[in-house]
Amino acid sequence: MLKFLLPSIMGISCVLPAASAGTSDPLRFNPDNFRVDSITMPWGETVRFKAYEGLAYVRNVEDPAYQQLNLYVPLDLKGKDDKDIPILMRNNVGGYMASPAGTPSAVDATGYALARGYVLCIPGARGNGATIEKDGKTYYTGTAPAGLLDLKAATRYLRYNDDLIPGNSERIFTDGTSAGGAMSSLQGATGDAPEYEPFLKAMGAAEVSDAVYASICYCPITDLNHADMEYEWLYGCTNTGVRKLDAAQIAISDELAALCPAYIDSLHLTDQNGTPVTSSNYMDYLKTFIMASAQKALEEGCEIPDSIGIVRYAKPRPTFAQQLGAGPANGGMPGRQQGVPAGGERKQRQGAPGGGGRTMPTQYTDYVIDIDWDKYLSYVATQQALKTPPAFDAYGVLHDSATPENTVFGSTDGTPANFTDFSLRKRTGDPSATLSEDMNYRVMLMNPMNFIAPGRQGTAPHWYIRHGAKDRDTSFLVPVNLATRLRNAGYEVDFELPWNRPHSGDYNLPDLFNWIESVM
Ligand code: DHB
Repeated sequence: MLKFLLPSIMGISCVLPAASAGTSDPLRFNPDNFRVDSITMPWGETVRFKAYEGLAYVRNVEDPAYQQLNLYVPLDLKGKDDKDIPILMRNNVGGYMASPAGTPSAVDATGYALARGYVLCIPGARGNGATIEKDGKTYYTGTAPAGLLDLKAATRYLRYNDDLIPGNSERIFTDGTSAGGAMSSLQGATGDAPEYEPFLKAMGAAEVSDAVYASICYCPITDLNHADMEYEWLYGCTNTGVRKLDAAQIAISDELAALCPAYIDSLHLTDQNGTPVTSSNYMDYLKTFIMASAQKALEEGCEIPDSIGIVRYAKPRPTFAQQLGAGPANGGMPGRQQGVPAGGERKQRQGAPGGGGRTMPTQYTDYVIDIDWDKYLSYVATQQALKTPPAFDAYGVLHDSATPENTVFGSTDGTPANFTDFSLRKRTGDPSATLSEDMNYRVMLMNPMNFIAPGRQGTAPHWYIRHGAKDRDTSFLVPVNLATRLRNAGYEVDFELPWNRPHSGDYNLPDLFNWIESVM
């Protein structure tokens, strides 16, 4: 396999000297080479830290603009022992683009981590748009799986220098959003997988483990080779409605959707009671996550209009007399009937019994009892127009433009590529065309689902996965399948589809950091 893969992934034989060459071991960290900097948190606290920047994490640097990391060590380690200090490795990958090593920000997880006395690493990684010039030619260095290899090499660097870098390299938490969430999921799923070893060796990565302790994934755009069918299977109900597809698009959508049930069934998922999750009951399973999300939102005082398909059971409310202090309610608010899905909207944050402007106690919050999928998915599609089919492997199918995914699976000369047989066949017009062995292998390396199995050594034991309940960048099936496969394999997974969230990351940071503390 590797004899034909290595040249295509490594691209070229342009090997630049490592940025920190000159010491006997260019991968050894120098604890004395820092400057002191600070950020001011939104609550006014000034957080001072040592900044170590531009550290090459491989010996054979191919693309010096990206293959380096920045490391930040707070001056105040909050009295923690070294072994109790987590290391947050937050990538800045978005759109599968190349990302240079980043700096901390007071308004995202990076600043929060420093304020909590964590060590912070923001590695750069090759990706779309990364190029170098060699012999008068432009080479694209970021083709998959280059970016993932870089993040693995950065992990190795931290572990290799554990004796010199504060913090516990056995407590690395990876974090990323969207394509960066996909990268974080891959770091979590593929730790120490032998499939990546020859590439990491060729790059001159440190020869230590690249397993991480926990993976934080916000809206991971992953499972790329199944994402098209998952998208159409879910959103097909909107094709002639809000999505307004034309006949050719509907034909592609229908063909893709028809492939999805077999894929779902092939995963052999089970729910938390051990009941099989199949293509037949999948939408009921998915419902449980959206319903939990809506329920939590109601309890937090959100208003949810009935028009968007969240079906509710109206709980009895206190009567006016009871509100004046007469004990628990068993009547109903005027005009509302027990057992009838709530009509209209109401404010939940209103005076509680007894007045005083307190929040309506959650015992009066409506129950979410069902989802009307057509309404709910149409609502999602009105929040941001859905992608047209195929949503991911679109290159040469109905239009010529390449998606970020086509580009990342492209070649080192910058030509985008198909990464599914389905779209390859559509583009070439050859109904029996299949991806090359090389491409299949690259696609396999970029899908965390292939590496999640019970008892596999090197998979992160802890996972925090979030995908907004109105995020349409990929199908809800992608994060749900990822979380479920992980749970089924015995890993600890904190998974939610947060209410009314679009495609975004690093939100609800107190919740995230409480989770981090809880798994430390
Ligand atoms: C991202 C978003 C997408 O919709 C996509 O297809 C790939 C990446 C992103 O935000 O990183």
